[in-house]
Amino acid sequence: MPDTSYDLVVIGAGPGGYVAAIRAAQLGLRTAVVEKDGYMGGTCLNVGCIPSKALLASTELYHTLAAHGATHGIKVGQLSIDLAALMQHKVEVVEKLRNGVRQMLEKRGVAMIQGVGRIADGGKAVEVTQAGAMQKLATKNILIATGSSVIELPFLKFDGVNIVSSDQGIAFASVPAKLVVVGAGAIGLELGSVWARLGSEVTVVEFLPRIAPTYDEDISRTAQRLLQKQGLKFELGAKVTGVKNEGGVLSLTAERDGQPLSFPADKILVAVGRRPNTAGLGAKEAGLALDDKGRVVVDEHLRTNLPGVYAIGDVITGPMLAHKAEEEGVACAELIAGRAGHVNYATIPNIIYTEPEIASVGLGETEAKAKNIAVKVGKFNLAANGRALASDAPDGFVKIIADPKTDRLLGAQIIAHNASELIASITPHLEYGGSAEDVARTVYAHPTMAEAVKEAAMAVDKRAIHAL
Ligand code: NAI
Repeated sequence: MPDTSYDLVVIGAGPGGYVAAIRAAQLGLRTAVVEKDGYMGGTCLNVGCIPSKALLASTELYHTLAAHGATHGIKVGQLSIDLAALMQHKVEVVEKLRNGVRQMLEKRGVAMIQGVGRIADGGKAVEVTQAGAMQKLATKNILIATGSSVIELPFLKFDGVNIVSSDQGIAFASVPAKLVVVGAGAIGLELGSVWARLGSEVTVVEFLPRIAPTYDEDISRTAQRLLQKQGLKFELGAKVTGVKNEGGVLSLTAERDGQPLSFPADKILVAVGRRPNTAGLGAKEAGLALDDKGRVVVDEHLRTNLPGVYAIGDVITGPMLAHKAEEEGVACAELIAGRAGHVNYATIPNIIYTEPEIASVGLGETEAKAKNIAVKVGKFNLAANGRALASDAPDGFVKIIADPKTDRLLGAQIIAHNASELIASITPHLEYGGSAEDVARTVYAHPTMAEAVKEAAMAVDKRAIHAL
């Protein structure tokens, strides 16, 4: 009989769960991770962040050569796409990373158990059910890291073929002639970009009056203008009402200001957010407290109302981001091991990986205005940055937001090529409580696009050098 008593059983092997398990094992806890799908990495690695980034990279290369090759003096004849090979590249990246996670867990001695995990004995055990068989793991602590699932609109039910979620939207067998995307958030804009670059006529239908609505208004406006130049169409302020199928011809129906709208589609991709996964956990029977949105309620130490039961990632409150879940996973493992784990929620970057990329960290200008928080802002356009021009990437800007009295850095927003990397030079200043002046006094190599970050910080004090 194998010993099935643990210090920690993690339910869910996504970026939150597997990272927590590794950190717990590093700290000497006897740890198991239970995963229903049997493979490691969760949504992010298998059907989310990683495959979508592989598709974005492949299609960006294609689009860059097609649209900008001539500018660089590159002649490549007639470009074409081998969609199966493009998808195969994505699959190989995912498999490599998935195996890597398994190896990392193995090396740290974490037990990997396939099945659906359920809280038992008031939080003193986890029951794992797989193919009708059940085993019980006794444990001192449980970590719920079960993630989230796509939201299905009641009048637009997924059929897996014509009306799909991102799970299928990363794996179409052919390029749909007309793709209608519902939701102009992260998934809608990223996958809309992928298929537009491959030749689909993409229409994005969004309920709110602007795209990427969690970012600043000037970011949304710039993103919309640049994505429209790439061929994406946007229908904003449109309330989706359903779908029509007339003789095999599909149309998404919507309304704006009481006027009916109809958008013909070969495929409809619905990306209107995600909801926490708590089904099957035995939450009700165990008395686990959930909030009105179905999220597991935790305190500032990630503890649920059940002693020894913790929760992290998409299943609790906060942005549904892999790196947020990872940070919580590390913090939670450290807290369970008696250390001082902590997550600074004011410094979690948020990225949409379109071209150009959209990135934010900390407080935005629009949010500050809505909350009546006084801010001073410095902005610098990439069009005035030498490296951006040399790289044929002059679109976008960097914006630094600071406290008008103390100059303390409050946040940043960027729309630029590689904004995801640029924002990483700002986050540490935010983490250490730095000022806009600290960013302005930091030496950035020339020529780099990151110099735009320094210039934006100088612009906070109206002293950008390379601005007209
Ligand atoms: P999202 O919350 O980012 O965006 C959903 C969009 O759909 C919003 O703009 C919302 O206003 C709109 N919407 C909601 N209901 C609608 C309706 N009935 N009709 C029209 N529009 C409607 O959600 P998304 O893109 O599905 O992503 C899910 C989660 O995954 C998010 O939390 C996101 O942050 C995360 N994610 C993060 C990525 C990244 O970090 N790059 C990439 C993909 C997803």
